[in-house]
Amino acid sequence: MRNDKDGYGTVTKSLHWTIFILFTVMFVLGFGLMGGSEGSTAFGAAWSSVFDWHATLGLIVLVLALVRIVWRAKTPLPSWAPGLSTRERSLAHRTEQVMYFVMVAKPLSGYVLAGSAGHSIHLFGAVPFGNPFGDSSTLESIALAIHIVTGVMFLLVWVVHVGQALRHQFMLKDGLLRRMLPADRDRVSPE
Ligand code: HEM
Repeated sequence: MRNDKDGYGTVTKSLHWTIFILFTVMFVLGFGLMGGSEGSTAFGAAWSSVFDWHATLGLIVLVLALVRIVWRAKTPLPSWAPGLSTRERSLAHRTEQVMYFVMVAKPLSGYVLAGSAGHSIHLFGAVPFGNPFGDSSTLESIALAIHIVTGVMFLLVWVVHVGQALRHQFMLKDGLLRRMLPADRDRVSPE
């Protein structure tokens, strides 16, 4: 379950891939929702139900991100993959810090944005979720800016993150990607 010096444990791996899938869905829904609720977007008349699901998944991402942060503090980190140079380690560390920030800031800003823009949210399309923010165009502009900037930040660091994993796995063939895959036997020990 826990990480050890030789590799990531099941909890870290499950959180990693669950959040990856949710983020992918969130980006697809988010791009489709752009342009407002007038029915002129990719989702047309289904805009509000897609919006409810975008908000619901966002809340799940936020909770999982907080669980992930607590878990990362409580379980040891494995030793660095031996194939990563000092510069690559520092790059990986910085990109991970940005991704943790985005995992929290993007859904949070989404809630402030939805509330201040006057949209009512129904979790799972059914459960009313209060709006503690009230209509405010100033708050809406700030939240929208944060929501967009964190999205761009995420896409930039994500390209670096995935590029690093795929380059090591398929060009340098040092098995970096396997460190995050399920099978224990695929662990790459630094020793
Ligand atoms: C939403 C998308 C993603 C996020 C937010 C993310 C975030 C992270 C973070 C924070 C870590 C450090 C371990 C941890 O604290 O959990 C990590 C490790 C890792 N990720 Fe991702 N990741 C994403 C997608 C991907 C994808 C698509 C790949 C593969 C193509 C990938 C490959 C890896 C690998 C191989 C490691 C382990 C690196 C090592 O050996 O230390 N990640 N990821």
